[in-house]
Amino acid sequence: MSHDGCLGNVEYISLRTVNFKISVRTPERIQIFNSRELNVRENFLYSIIYCTFAVEVVDLEIIFFYMINEYKNYPLLQHNTFGIDVSAASFVEFSTVEELQQLLAKEWRRPLLVIGGGSNLLFTGDFNGTIFHSRIMGIDLLGENDTDVFVRVGSGVNWDEFVAYCVEQGWHGLENLSLIPGEVGASAVQNVGAYGVEAGDFIVKVDAISIDDAYPCAFTNGDCEFAYRHSIFKTEEKDRYIITHVIFRLKKHAAFKLSYGNLKEKVEELGGATLANVRRAVCEIRRAKLPDPAEIGSAGSFFMNPVVSSAIAARLIEDYPAMPQYPLPDGNVKLSAGWMIEQCGWKNTPHEHVGVYSKQALVVINRGGATGGEVVEFANAVVASVKEKFGVTLHMEVNVI
Ligand code: EPU
Repeated sequence: MSHDGCLGNVEYISLRTVNFKISVRTPERIQIFNSRELNVRENFLYSIIYCTFAVEVVDLEIIFFYMINEYKNYPLLQHNTFGIDVSAASFVEFSTVEELQQLLAKEWRRPLLVIGGGSNLLFTGDFNGTIFHSRIMGIDLLGENDTDVFVRVGSGVNWDEFVAYCVEQGWHGLENLSLIPGEVGASAVQNVGAYGVEAGDFIVKVDAISIDDAYPCAFTNGDCEFAYRHSIFKTEEKDRYIITHVIFRLKKHAAFKLSYGNLKEKVEELGGATLANVRRAVCEIRRAKLPDPAEIGSAGSFFMNPVVSSAIAARLIEDYPAMPQYPLPDGNVKLSAGWMIEQCGWKNTPHEHVGVYSKQALVVINRGGATGGEVVEFANAVVASVKEKFGVTLHMEVNVI
């Protein structure tokens, strides 16, 4: 596809669903960008092109490509949102199921680690094995009926770009999960959740390749055993499969969930419940509370919210009447880790390179130049203080490598 000096006609969908290269020819030179370097962020991409070339562009070409990439001693700074500067002995990327199967037939330096967007990882040192990263792209409409659509999404698709696409198409379900960092494959591993919705509520099937024998496998929603920030890919089946596609069932008609926190209020302020307004409201709430990984290194929520018995919750509320508590259908009660961490004073007592975010204490941040070891040391101090004050044990949500 070629456009003479015309950026407006670039196919929007193609930018976020496949790997691509862009070559921009100006009177002085030709510059090639590829989607890997640009991290497939089309806004970023557009702004780079506009800023640098808007006036002089004479030709813009988008070249689609699919390939295996293998690297040695690969820097991981761009692959972990914590911003820890470490490297992997070996790093491989694939863009099709067949490429992944070819790769798995070879011998790789062990251990193997599969990563998504690196938004839930904390590296404590260089990784001496091989990291696999999916670049399988594509959002395909598999079928639809009067009420539902079935969509197959490549595991390497950026999560928020998928959510944005659903909102544009009028597909309901994932809008509350706007702006969550990471990729589609990891959303199924982690069962990402926010504002009363979890990815697992909409996943019908997960396609994966077995690491041992490169055999394709499919997991139904029930097989995945989704629960709060949990799936079998984090426990029984950990490190046994590489997810290639996730199949979602989304709704054609409105099914808004606005009961969490101030979401409803925010949506009303924006003019009422539409898909676009819910997405906008969620994005605004998140931007106000959570650090932008491009500016401050973090992995989002560092700990999970702990669940305690109703008896323990009752004792705690006597001592701490302001403590947020969320009763669960099974009779237990979920507590707010962020609130407890704040009560322990961590917002005001950071360590040199590590601290908690000023607007959300559940988020541990890299204050600049932190090592993974320093983050773990800080996190252990936070856990100890919450245990001492509230008698509650916090568990890390972040995967420490
Ligand atoms: N709170 C404080 N101080 C803090 C943080 C929270 O007082 O520093 C209080 C809040 O005022 C509120 C309660 O704690 O009363 C809960 O806070 P919030 O609504 O921010 O949610 P959370 O339970 O801390 C979870 C998820 C977030 C998700 C939000 C909204 C986990 C581990 N975290 O946080 O997920 O965005 O709910 O649904 O479940 C993530 O995983 O990276 C993430 C951001």
